[in-house]
Amino acid sequence: MASIPPLALALSRGCGNPTSFARLQEGETVADLGCGGGIDLILAGRRVGPGGRVLGVDFAPEMLERARLCVEESGLENVELAPGNVESLPLPNGGADAVISNCVINLVPDKEAVYREAFRVLRPGGRIAISDIVTSCQLEPDLRTRFQGTWAGCLGGAMEEGPYLGLIQATGFGDMEIIARHVLSPEELQGMAQCPGSDFTPSPLPEDLAAVVGKVLSIKFRATR
Ligand SMILES: C[S@@+](CC[C@H](N)C(=O)[O-])C[C@H]1O[C@@H](n2cnc3c(N)ncnc32)[C@H](O)[C@@H]1O
Repeated sequence: MASIPPLALALSRGCGNPTSFARLQEGETVADLGCGGGIDLILAGRRVGPGGRVLGVDFAPEMLERARLCVEESGLENVELAPGNVESLPLPNGGADAVISNCVINLVPDKEAVYREAFRVLRPGGRIAISDIVTSCQLEPDLRTRFQGTWAGCLGGAMEEGPYLGLIQATGFGDMEIIARHVLSPEELQGMAQCPGSDFTPSPLPEDLAAVVGKVLSIKFRATR
């Protein structure tokens, strides 16, 4: 953490640390889906070294501009940024050794499209290393609808874990390994539900948050193309 520029740390909005379990090697090419302020771009850039490449994709120009500042401050020259939607990646077929993503795919309406795209851009044998938010059971429809009103709070779009992992396997990924599961505490839920900040995402009703305590998890997993 000491080697990360303070701006990148301040902008970090992840729910895990995909570079810690992506098994990145020197010289590899890595794509970070929804790179935000760029913390994982910097961690990945250090791991793959000068002979490797890291490509950050995000659809928010404001986040890409902040990521550009953070990468510049880090001194890394092996990181590139591309505007784009992760449902339709601006990357060629089969060029990536690894695809990472940190707390983004829960926000995307068409999760199947994201995994189809990840499969397309990975070389055979390449891997995904993902941190994401899921639920342990189906949420009651009215509650789900209310969470969808503050979509950026990561609860409106989070899928139930079993169907979510099933969808990824149905896309063609194998060797699924769950690295960690963490049930969010009430404090973590409150913080996440107001991500990226209370000015932007108002707090859900206290009784709505209380209703999901124990049912929302951050998971980390790896799978192979
Ligand atoms: C919760 S933040 C996580 C950012 C970063 N991965 C991190 O760990 O700090 C979600 C990021 O995903 C981006 N995002 C959300 N949906 C996206 C989509 N469909 N295509 C591209 N980027 C998306 C947002 O702009 C934002 O930067």
